[in-house]
Amino acid sequence: MSQAVAELAYPMSRTKPFNPPDGYADLREHQRFARVRLWDGTYPYLLTKFDDIRVVLSNPKFSCEPNREGFPHVFEGRMVADKADRSFLRLDNPEHDRLRRMVTKEFTVRRIEQLTPRIEESVDRLITQYSQLPQGADFVEHFSAPLPTEIITFLLGIPYEDHEFFHEATRIQFGSKSTPAEVRKSLDDLFNYLDALITRKEREPQDDIVSRLVAEQLKPGHVDRLTLINIVRLLLSAGHQTTQNMTALGVLTLLQHPDQLALIKSNPEMIPGAVEELLRFSSVLHVGARRVALEDIDVNGKLVKAGEGVICSIPAANRDPNLFPDPDKFDVERDAARHVAFGFGVHQCLGQVLARAELRIVYGSLFNRLPNLRLAVPFEKLRFRHDMFVYGVHELPLAW
Ligand code: HEM
Repeated sequence: MSQAVAELAYPMSRTKPFNPPDGYADLREHQRFARVRLWDGTYPYLLTKFDDIRVVLSNPKFSCEPNREGFPHVFEGRMVADKADRSFLRLDNPEHDRLRRMVTKEFTVRRIEQLTPRIEESVDRLITQYSQLPQGADFVEHFSAPLPTEIITFLLGIPYEDHEFFHEATRIQFGSKSTPAEVRKSLDDLFNYLDALITRKEREPQDDIVSRLVAEQLKPGHVDRLTLINIVRLLLSAGHQTTQNMTALGVLTLLQHPDQLALIKSNPEMIPGAVEELLRFSSVLHVGARRVALEDIDVNGKLVKAGEGVICSIPAANRDPNLFPDPDKFDVERDAARHVAFGFGVHQCLGQVLARAELRIVYGSLFNRLPNLRLAVPFEKLRFRHDMFVYGVHELPLAW
């Protein structure tokens, strides 16, 4: 690889908190297949165009297995976690589909509809508790973090009291600054924790996902113990940190766009559409999705060679003007439904019905219960999660 391309280091930081890095629009226009330099001296392609990204993510010849030569590893610590990952997020077909099918029934529209009263109960209680705190209390700590954790731990049958332990594990395993040794230690601790959980469910099954996986998959030998631990780990981490960041960033986005907030407050039927627009606009998964070509593949006229890595930028795709006119405008009235905030193809988010339900219930209730909700500090003082796989805001002090 020539020195000339070594300029474009990845990941790039956002300069405006709500927008993808500045250079993405230019790349989309002039360099659809830009080479970017990673920490380990490799040069995968960075894709920024919606059409190219959909082609890559829907082609099974682009693998998502981190142990394959050429797979783009974005942070050193994360590489350790990815290479140890045996969940279906990191497996190609046919194994991906076989394992994913073991849990799809748990996240269907019907299942999540049945869960709605439970989500509403959590949202109501957390708003009440939050409103009793001193003005300026951190919304992330007291609302957006506990909510998805309560729900996913309830579904999995994991004690909520242990949330600090796995929040910390997620922080280490998804942080850009974590060392390989820290990630290894954190993975070991989490695996031991989940191993003990599975043992408890073997002895005393309850009405939860882990107990059902133990009874229906582990005991008959359809899945081995390590793979089951990996699946539960995936559901736990994917189930809390993405929704947590999306919830808080969404509240901030609405507070910073009062005209849009006023629209959904007076027209609650607009909330589902607003949630899609928030997902598009925020695109919290701001690193990846990552793949490696298994053979030479034509992507809309560009040949990607076998063994070459590809990073499909979800935030860039969701700001593609070909699909979303005036893409940097936050507009709850637009049709944002085709966004790829949940990915695309076989790995498209398993928990999207759940995530949507949580977000709709939060935005439908929070601003009515606390009609004077506002930022308690100047916007410039907020710290954004540039250093994490999942973007968001570290703290969100609000007043009401
Ligand atoms: C996969 C985003 C919430 C579980 C994905 C992918 C994206 C994503 C982009 C695809 C990754 C890739 O192709 O490499 C999000 C966002 C969420 C969210 C933005 C919230 C706003 C959830 C929740 C769960 C969940 C609540 C609950 C269990 C999963 C799982 C996968 C996945 C299991 C792997 C699917 C597969 O490989 O087949 N998510 N997610 N996600 N997500 Fe989510």
